Amino acid sequence: MKLGLVLISVLALSQVCLCFHEVPHMLVLAIAKKELMKNDMEVYNITAKYLDTYSTQGVDTVSTTTYEENAVWADDIKVYGDAQKAMEMWHYIGNKDSNPQNLTPLKKDPMADSENALNAYNNIVKVLTNEKFVGQMTEFKVNMLKMLVHIVGDIHMPHHTGSFYNATYKNDKGEFWGDLGGNRQMINFYTSTGEMKKTNIHFYFDSSCFFYTWTNRLVRPLNETFKIYFQRELDRIVAQYPKESLNIDNTKTFSDWADESWNLALNNVYPFLLSKNEIHYGDDFYNSSFDMIQKRIVTAGYRLAYTLQKLFTPEKGLIKANTPLSYQQPIANNNNNSINNQKDNTNQTLASTYESSDNQSNKAMAIVFGVLFGLTFVAFIFSIIYFKKTVSPSTYQRTSNDLIEAKNINVQKLASTENNL
Ligand SMILES: *[C@@H]1O[C@H](CO)[C@@H](O)[C@H](O)[C@H]1NC(C)=O
Ligand SMILES: *[C@@H]1O[C@H](CO)[C@@H](O)[C@H](O)[C@H]1NC(C)=O
Ligand SMILES: *[C@@H]1O[C@H](CO)[C@@H](O)[C@H](O)[C@H]1NC(C)=O
Ligand SMILES: *[C@@H]1O[C@H](CO)[C@@H](O)[C@H](O)[C@H]1NC(C)=O
Ligand SMILES: *[C@@H]1O[C@H](CO)[C@@H](O)[C@H](O)[C@H]1NC(C)=O
Ligand SMILES: *[C@@H]1O[C@H](CO)[C@@H](O)[C@H](O)[C@H]1NC(C)=O
Repeated sequence: MKLGLVLISVLALSQVCLCFHEVPHMLVLAIAKKELMKNDMEVYNITAKYLDTYSTQGVDTVSTTTYEENAVWADDIKVYGDAQKAMEMWHYIGNKDSNPQNLTPLKKDPMADSENALNAYNNIVKVLTNEKFVGQMTEFKVNMLKMLVHIVGDIHMPHHTGSFYNATYKNDKGEFWGDLGGNRQMINFYTSTGEMKKTNIHFYFDSSCFFYTWTNRLVRPLNETFKIYFQRELDRIVAQYPKESLNIDNTKTFSDWADESWNLALNNVYPFLLSKNEIHYGDDFYNSSFDMIQKRIVTAGYRLAYTLQKLFTPEKGLIKANTPLSYQQPIANNNNNSINNQKDNTNQTLASTYESSDNQSNKAMAIVFGVLFGLTFVAFIFSIIYFKKTVSPSTYQRTSNDLIEAKNINVQKLASTENNL
């Protein structure tokens, strides 16, 4: 029984987890909030308006009671499985790899270069700054903002950017599939009470060196006790790592942040792992990695504040406490595609004009299709009658046999071509 329990918890821990924990994510957004409230209250209000919009009725799994909890939305929606598959790969960049022994063949996700946090971020920025929707709080913008506040945190983690390849990480087919952002790199972690926890290095960092896992577990939605705890933790980390001490350079891009993270993994984590996979609470590696990860959290928070300020300044004076959620109007086809030209069309009246002219052309199209369909149907009935009368069953049979043979030849050809590759 006890062994069973241990096994279950080991299995639960060793599960592939590409998310980083709730508290660090919420800290990143809370630091951004604090900074915005200090520097630009109006932009803070705008972001709060966006984030509050869906907190109780949107595609949430855990209802949200605070601004900060929106940072976890992107993980919460993972329970929808395939329904949110397109966004599953937005939490990391899986292609900054290290393969020091030049091993081949490598098994990589063919989507890694396109479906990743960097491309997602760039597209989210386009959505949030689309001139056609400035001043309109659309449902889509609400969701994309929630993704953004999450992935800025993720990308500051050392193991959300690449994989390490060596002989250990090999699948059944003999392909080197790497450590999957540290998810396959198991470690033994000894807690402050000396208890051993088997886990992986990805999880170690996502949980801030286990700091927010067993001893400081929060349950969401946050109740009053947890809100007090969270505030205390926020005050502590911000005081410990003052903004001036972090050398935050605002000219750095999302891609630079990811490079920094991967360099931390390469310089500070993998050299250690190559000699050891045991970490004890309070040892050298623990102390230095905990310090490193806390700096990343705080840095991500300040960078997020700066990013939000840049993104939402154009909506100052436009998004207010009483701005309703608006539904994105489809872009009319008979419109000029250039953004400059469409700026003036961000207008409910104009949009509905386009809609009604679209409706009229739709009606005309429906009539044309109706007539065409009727004619086709009549022709079809006639051809069936004709076919039945003139084509004998034997001809019928021969045709289909030829077809199957032709298909088989093609299949064989394909297979041999593949072998030659
Ligand atoms: C921000 O929102 C608060 C509460 O709704 C309001 O009292 C305050 O005036 C707003 N500040 C700005 C600068 O918009
Ligand atoms: C908040 O939840 C925790 C654990 O579920 C509980 O121990 C605590 O008493 C709760 N606090 C309040 C104010 O309900
Ligand atoms: C592969 O790298 C890991 C550290 O990431 C190390 O624990 C393991 O021993 C290495 N395997 C080999 C075969 O060198
Ligand atoms: C790690 O940090 C703790 C707390 O600051 C300290 O007591 C301990 O001596 C440090 N460990 C090492 C190996 O320096
Ligand atoms: C589309 O807009 C651009 C820029 O405003 C303008 O130069 C161009 O002539 C327009 N094209 C059409 C077909 O209206
Ligand atoms: C939007 O439509 C209204 C009429 O309902 C008009 O007064 C206003 O000037 C339009 N705004 C723009 C930017 O075209």
